[in-house]
Amino acid sequence: MTQERIRNFSIIAHIDHGKSTLADRLLEYTKTLTEREMQEQFLDNMDLERERGITIKLQAVTMNYQAKDGKEYYLNVIDTPGHVDFTYEVSRSLKACEGVLLVVDAAQGIEAQTLANIYLALEQNLEIIPVINKIDLPNADVEKVTRELEEIVGIDEDEVILASAKDGTGIEDILEAIVERIPAPDDKEDDHLKALIFDSYYDTYRGVITYLRVFSGQLVPGMEIKMMQTGKKFEASEIGILNPGPKKVDALNAGEVGFMAANIKDVKDSRVGDTITSYKKPAPEPLAGYKQVKPMVYCGLFPADGEDYEDLRDALDKLQLNDASLVYEQENSAALGFGFRCGFLGLLHMEIIQERLEREYGISLVTTAPNVVYRVELVEGEEITIENPTDLPERNEINAIYEPVVRANFMVPQDYIGPVMELCEEKRGEYETLEYLDSLRVLLKYKLPLSEIVFDFFDLLKSKTRGYASFDYEIIGYEGADLVKVDILVNKEPVDALSFIVHQDKAYYKGRQLAGKLREMLPRQMFDVPVQAAIGNKVIARETVKAVKKNVLAKCYGGDITRKRKLLEKQKEGKQRMKQVGKVDIPQEAFMAVLSID
Ligand code: GTP
Repeated sequence: MTQERIRNFSIIAHIDHGKSTLADRLLEYTKTLTEREMQEQFLDNMDLERERGITIKLQAVTMNYQAKDGKEYYLNVIDTPGHVDFTYEVSRSLKACEGVLLVVDAAQGIEAQTLANIYLALEQNLEIIPVINKIDLPNADVEKVTRELEEIVGIDEDEVILASAKDGTGIEDILEAIVERIPAPDDKEDDHLKALIFDSYYDTYRGVITYLRVFSGQLVPGMEIKMMQTGKKFEASEIGILNPGPKKVDALNAGEVGFMAANIKDVKDSRVGDTITSYKKPAPEPLAGYKQVKPMVYCGLFPADGEDYEDLRDALDKLQLNDASLVYEQENSAALGFGFRCGFLGLLHMEIIQERLEREYGISLVTTAPNVVYRVELVEGEEITIENPTDLPERNEINAIYEPVVRANFMVPQDYIGPVMELCEEKRGEYETLEYLDSLRVLLKYKLPLSEIVFDFFDLLKSKTRGYASFDYEIIGYEGADLVKVDILVNKEPVDALSFIVHQDKAYYKGRQLAGKLREMLPRQMFDVPVQAAIGNKVIARETVKAVKKNVLAKCYGGDITRKRKLLEKQKEGKQRMKQVGKVDIPQEAFMAVLSID
């Protein structure tokens, strides 16, 4: 196919504004999916994704479209994940495109992620086609949203397409706009092979499947290729396009998007952002801007039943095959035994992995509270990174501690500016700017420590603004902060998995709160159990779990045997997720209790 008949584009939108539904309509309209194949939300093909209504993995589907000018075009739609945890993946898939459909909900208007995505698209100089979706809704306000697009993004009213992905309105206009407005690729055909990897996943039968965009040269089956970041060599065994199922082709040429199988056994050898070139005739330099993604949030994952340790390792191995951004290493906790310290791109990523381990692999987990990655400058001058609070050296060995900070953008109706600012101040935020977007909404910028927003920030924001504020953030670097480690002792024994790092000013409060929470959560014993919070050797809070006077079965005295059995059964179940520390059982919730302190 000649380049002038190709259009490569992505759909970008704030969560729930209708990206997947719109993609479905495009596939349907171009008959890429037949009625029989039509499956709701084809692009989100993992169960979990569908249940949570979020897109994690990107894919690229080629549609054939007969335009009004009588010519046939190849439209490659590249799916992007919508969540901030996956920003790097979004920027890579945008790099494979010449344009984007910007979908905005007609009732909601522009939200924080709409803006974040627009910035990414502008950075890459992409043609933006604005689509106001859901115009069928009774509370759709097309005029207001058009004004927002004009004022906030500088988009001309005439460029806006009105659509309803639900009833099919505007779909043809969108397809025509893609053909007319998005430039065809203009890549060099007779040069060294350079192809950008924008996604890859592990297939049990064929090994790693790599999704790529060819920027110059040609990729053909049988070709020996080299990954420019890792230097590794493979042979391209199969190449093709998704239409929407895989369809083999004889070559992928400059400007084209497709997939490759090359007997790659590990997704780490097919990294998003890497450049594929010819092994024999390599390009002198890779495509610009490759970045290795680093996990920002860590937590401990332990099998509730110690015997599941090997199963947990196998499950993590398998998940990692498909997710190069998941990292883990063995961790041995005095309280929780053998498990893994795992690193994630963000909280959502963490939740997804935990859920998959429990659901797909049937492993009950005890998870510890997540923490961010700290940098610590030691007195001796060396700098180390801390992924686990227990690893923080003694205070007298530390010169300075640095924590990751983010710039957060909030889009807030003006009535809720106060509560949002209050929340940010509580979370050690530093005010930057406030800008009126229109007469009703503002864009508020704050600098915030990542550690303060990874926990319950999103929920707090939602409840304080009744769901009307949206927010997005980017990590901007590390800054020094007065941080300390708080240890928790149960029955005089330190429970390593409960240690946390916190700002000095909040240490006493958090220590007291956590000790109090634990007092409520820990099962009572035949003896008094002290729960203490300490900084170094200094105890900063103390609570006592009072001894029980009677045992559980006493209640059933003279009674019914089934009830007694049930009670014992229940106790046993509860035990599965308890960890014994010294003489005391600690339930799973306790390890997350630090999260529920405000
Ligand atoms: P994420 O994958 O979470 O980013 O969401 P998305 O942007 O892909 O949104 P999705 O397509 O899942 O749509 C979100 C909700 O809006 C679903 O319940 C859709 O049925 C609904 N929806 C999408 N388009 C329209 C529309 O044109 N009109 C109406 N009334 N509802 C729509």
